[in-house]
Amino acid sequence: MVKARKYVVKKYFEGVPKRSDYEIVEYELPPLKVGEVLVKTEWVSVDPYLRIYHKVHQLPYDQFSNQVGIVEQSKDPNYPVGTRIVSHKGWCDYAVINTAKVEPEDYLDVKYKLPDLKGMSPSIGLGTAGMPGVSAYFAFLELCQPKAGETVVVTGAAGAVGSIVGQIAKIKGCNVIGFAGSDDKVKWLEKELGFDKAFNYKTTDIQKALKAAAPNGVDCFFDNVGGEMCSIIVGQMNRKGRVAVCGYVGSYNEELTEQPKATILHPSIVLNELRIEGFVARSWLDRWPEAIEQLITWIKNGQLKPTEHVTVGFDKIFDAFVGMLAGENAGKAVVKV
Ligand SMILES: NC(=O)c1ccc[n+]([C@@H]2O[C@H](COP(=O)([O-])OP(=O)(O)OC[C@H]3O[C@@H](n4cnc5c(N)ncnc54)[C@H](OP(=O)(O)O)[C@@H]3O)[C@@H](O)[C@H]2O)c1
Repeated sequence: MVKARKYVVKKYFEGVPKRSDYEIVEYELPPLKVGEVLVKTEWVSVDPYLRIYHKVHQLPYDQFSNQVGIVEQSKDPNYPVGTRIVSHKGWCDYAVINTAKVEPEDYLDVKYKLPDLKGMSPSIGLGTAGMPGVSAYFAFLELCQPKAGETVVVTGAAGAVGSIVGQIAKIKGCNVIGFAGSDDKVKWLEKELGFDKAFNYKTTDIQKALKAAAPNGVDCFFDNVGGEMCSIIVGQMNRKGRVAVCGYVGSYNEELTEQPKATILHPSIVLNELRIEGFVARSWLDRWPEAIEQLITWIKNGQLKPTEHVTVGFDKIFDAFVGMLAGENAGKAVVKV
């Protein structure tokens, strides 16, 4: 018998999630059946969507999230001991995984062998070569359809997705402007990641700063944040501009009825014939391998930096989660279990 620990959500979040909304439960895993493997969790991902998807589930529920585990016992010859698996088993130290294939719609049951990361840490499979990387890749390239020389704006620019979008935009020859939540992040985006210009949205007049940085207007806008910042940026877009709406993390701690209103969108959308499209990563599951392969190639070529914000310890997963929501991370927030 293997003893395991997991985080269970026992109370729906109100505002910022609290430690008391969770309980760490110890339990014994059942013996493996044919077609199952036992994985020991190595890395856990903490992501903004864990905050907004909480009411999708009946209480109490196990805290789901992507994670990388290594097979310690196997009753599936296709997954021998030592294989690493990306799954959605979440915040636990051990898990039993049924390796049978699932339908893409069943996002809670996503699992695949960790791709060959060519010597990089397995945690990269949760970030630049995982769901955030894939989101940046498809939402930017397919929804925004960027062309060399165009001006791209990214919000949440120093986060897991945003930092990759900005770097892909540079690879594609675009002029890239990012908005992030601290002066250190701004410096990092400009000096380390090659953004042409970055601003601290907390201390900057966004309207004026963007006018100055993009005097000829914005062609592509990758929105991770929503709210008033989104309205201001949409208001400075060029004719036939494209907006990829990937998230609205600026209001994930707000109740739906208290979400900020977006003002003055319609004149820009209509008169500039904008295309605004929402994105959901799991709808692209069948094409994830193609994105992951390209992202790994760019990393290996030195064109893409896979930055991470690492927290250590199973007991620290909750802190890493609320820390990420508060903006403590630059790059992908992950926990080494
Ligand atoms: N649609 C999809 O399939 C999909 C997939 C992946 C991610 N997403 C979305 O993409 C966005 C980024 O996700 P991520 O995983 O890359 O997270 P992340 O950006 O690495 O982390 C969240 C960041 O949100 C920023 N933030 C928090 N409160 C904010 C506020 N009030 N206003 C502006 N920024 C705020 C913080 O950075 P600052 O210091 O800059 O404030 C924080 O670092 C989220 O909206 C997420 O839901 C969507």
